[in-house]
Amino acid sequence: MKKILFSVAMMIACLSLHATEANYQVVPLPQSITAGKGGAFVLDGNSVVNVVGTDEAMYRNASFLKQYIREATGIAVGGADKKGTAITLKLNTGIENEEGYVITVKPKGITVEGRTPRGVFYGIQTLRKSLPVEQTETVGFPAVRIADHPRFSYRGTMLDCARHYFKLSFIKEFIDMLALHNINIFHWHLTEDQGWRVQIDRYPRLTEVGSKRAQTVIGRMTGLYDDTPYGGYYTKEDMREVVKYAADRYITVIPEIDMPGHMLGALAAYPELGCTGGPYKVAEEWGVFPDILCAGNPKTYEFVYNVLDELLEIFPSKYIHLGGDEAPRDRWKSCPRCQAEIQRLGLKGTDGFSAEGRLQVCFMNRVAKHLAEKGRRIIGWDEILEGDVDKGTTVMSWRGVSGGQEAARRGLDAIMSPTAYYYLDYYQTKNDALTLIGGLLPVETTYGYNPVPEDASPELKQHIKGVQANLWTEYIVGRDLAFYQLLPRVAAVSETGWTENGRKDFASFREREARLNRLYRHFGWKACQDLFK
Ligand code: ACM
Ligand code: ZN
Repeated sequence: MKKILFSVAMMIACLSLHATEANYQVVPLPQSITAGKGGAFVLDGNSVVNVVGTDEAMYRNASFLKQYIREATGIAVGGADKKGTAITLKLNTGIENEEGYVITVKPKGITVEGRTPRGVFYGIQTLRKSLPVEQTETVGFPAVRIADHPRFSYRGTMLDCARHYFKLSFIKEFIDMLALHNINIFHWHLTEDQGWRVQIDRYPRLTEVGSKRAQTVIGRMTGLYDDTPYGGYYTKEDMREVVKYAADRYITVIPEIDMPGHMLGALAAYPELGCTGGPYKVAEEWGVFPDILCAGNPKTYEFVYNVLDELLEIFPSKYIHLGGDEAPRDRWKSCPRCQAEIQRLGLKGTDGFSAEGRLQVCFMNRVAKHLAEKGRRIIGWDEILEGDVDKGTTVMSWRGVSGGQEAARRGLDAIMSPTAYYYLDYYQTKNDALTLIGGLLPVETTYGYNPVPEDASPELKQHIKGVQANLWTEYIVGRDLAFYQLLPRVAAVSETGWTENGRKDFASFREREARLNRLYRHFGWKACQDLFK
């Protein structure tokens, strides 16, 4: 009997030992994972996280690692107890890539090295994703060497906080989710026809008037309205908090002030900025609206410069997104001031571009010049190619991949975020009983996209800087639905952004993602489960 009990106890011990082993098959998949010699490193409550050097960011990294270990396993590793086994974080200039890292696991300890604290942070993300998600007292890390770096320098996700406003607590959780997936850009879409969502001191009516709509259309453009006022905006303090929260996690926030279209929020507040002078109202339904900023009015430029100057004080990003999408030029065609501006600039409808299209590109170039004087560069949606856009502009290819290809041909950098692969407001399964904008974009399709195929032109290879997933929120209200739409597709974008194409494999992604899904569940992020069926 004793023998049987002993065997059962051994079986349970073995099972629990197995269950608490780290697994390096994470998302995004590291470029190289090489099994090491010798036994495992055992992490437990006596383990410590050490930092070599005095870099503040490295100490913050250590705090993150301790928090992540506690979150996933309940193990509270110490800080500087020299007696325990150690995870050591250190900088190593021998690592080439700014975001690269090397993890070495030996029975005596783990080291995570990076050229920069940012690289070490990504090593920490890999370590945390290797952890089992369960309460345990020990975790065995098999000996290994992981050497890793990203494929693309720009790995972004856009969140539209204008169609629907998202609370600061959600924005922080969203940033945590991005960090988990090695995403380094949060493109923050802040202004729209349906609401202006940023405090600008010089123009108080932007938030007093422009951030509020009287009601919202019900369902998919039913013609019925909810009769409920809707509003919300971010104060400067909120935005500073977001920028800092993101920066601590090595994420750059790129704000977008969409112009000259999608501007009804601002026009409702300052009608003199439109071609007709209004009156205008903050939009109560979705779509593309004919009233846009007047490109022939000097006041428009003054407004745009002043707004951007206030934002530059908050957002240190090299890039500012100026939008530029879906700006109908009907008003410009009949506006004496816009037409006079076309004359003044000598713009002609040639080479497949209209004079008004060229005016829009001149408008964008002019704002870009203002920003360039302050050391910033612009990103524009691919409509910015409908004229002679200045060098130094980055193009965000959304209406397919041809915008990115054309940008590269013209010597411009581009980010790929084509609707057919990266629009996360689309349905991800036919079985969803949700009211969404439409389209079908299963995670497998998102995963299958390769922005720079092997046989791509040298220009494409040089100028495609990365990828971006977009979450437009006409139909996305609240945290749960947002996470449902984001996950697991953000993981698929993340792997394309990070992992060399030759290492990608959907079946393997599925398995690795099923493990990451446990962490999603732990955080209460209800991902679409189709992938795991
Ligand atoms: C866009 O989806 N209108 C950029
Ligand atoms: Zn005009």
